[in-house]
Amino acid sequence: MKYFSTDGSAPQVRLRSVNNRTTIQREFGNLLLTGYHRMSAPQEARQQRAPLAVVDFDHVEFYVGNAKQAAYFYRTAFGFNIVAYCGPETGVRDRVSYALQQGAIRLLITGALTADHPIAEHVHRHGDGVYAVAFRTPDATADFQQAVARGAKAWREPVTLRDAHGTVQVAEIAAYGDTIHRFVTRDNYTGPFLPGFEPRSVRAAQTEFLQRIDHVVANVGWNEMETWVQFYEDIFGFFQFRHFDETDISTEYTALRSKVMASPSLAIKLPINEPAKGKKRSQIEEYVDFYGSPGVQHIAIATSDILGAVAQLRANGVEFQSVPPGYYDTVTGRVGDIAEDLSALRDLNILVDRDDQGYLLQIFTKPLQDRPTVFFEIIQRRGSESFGKGNFKALFEAIEQDQAARGTL
Ligand code: FE2
Repeated sequence: MKYFSTDGSAPQVRLRSVNNRTTIQREFGNLLLTGYHRMSAPQEARQQRAPLAVVDFDHVEFYVGNAKQAAYFYRTAFGFNIVAYCGPETGVRDRVSYALQQGAIRLLITGALTADHPIAEHVHRHGDGVYAVAFRTPDATADFQQAVARGAKAWREPVTLRDAHGTVQVAEIAAYGDTIHRFVTRDNYTGPFLPGFEPRSVRAAQTEFLQRIDHVVANVGWNEMETWVQFYEDIFGFFQFRHFDETDISTEYTALRSKVMASPSLAIKLPINEPAKGKKRSQIEEYVDFYGSPGVQHIAIATSDILGAVAQLRANGVEFQSVPPGYYDTVTGRVGDIAEDLSALRDLNILVDRDDQGYLLQIFTKPLQDRPTVFFEIIQRRGSESFGKGNFKALFEAIEQDQAARGTL
């Protein structure tokens, strides 16, 4: 297993045995990263863990260089309303955070106010990117304790936050790279986001065309995918929902492997990608090089009207991956009849794929910040619970064109 250290120094590695598993801890300054290696003893049977109580995504927190401008971007480009704020005006001295909401999707956009702050360090190292993938749970403390008992690295002990709107429990564990998972229990809270935030009502001009987070994808380094598959099996009790190898996900030049971990209800789906060997540099390797570590590659956002949503997003200036010439010539033969007008899909560059349960429509944005790292997917499911395997080649050829333009292919 390999992590990427921006200062070039070798990480300190400590080994300890927890629950018949070897936990590898690596320290970069004050950042503690934990990975999991199964003992290779053949007598160890695969045991299915009882799942944590997490029920859905709660929010995704970005650490950015300028939270005010990033919040404006996600509001004007993607239709999120700014619903809450904290910063110096509300008694928070070291950071500002804007909470954005649209449908059931919450984004938290956070920036540091001082140079030596861990948030500033995170941005220095990674650029703007996802720091926390938060899950809603009926008992954050119990999920945290269970996760830590199973070998997860504690990042923030459970705390109860309170204000006039009620209480919220929050706890955090370390995940891949410098990313963390946050457990949030908000059943006894009526405020707009979390205690300590002041309500704001800065609405987007057009909103409510995006509904919920469908999946959040991790990119990890060479040969690290299994480590993180086991992390979600062992710590969360999630199961492997789908897997794709380089025969599914490759073009003439580049390749990757992917496994999708899911909660029992499928409300939380977490694909994990690793690079695979190809003639040229895998987009996953490019991501890890630019991000400086494993991290969140994309957030897929579900809509019930992808034609309307993408038309609006394009009008707002959002840039999307283009579709290779000829894609729509073969789409009917591949997916059969669909409800949408093919020419409308072609005009907006929306991709379509089918599996045995139905079909899905999807499109991918360009990266959301300067570095070619995190991006959004917009997805509309019509029965299919898959991920658009039939579109991987078209998508990756589009990404290769961008890699070539960046000189990183
Ligand atoms: Fe996706």
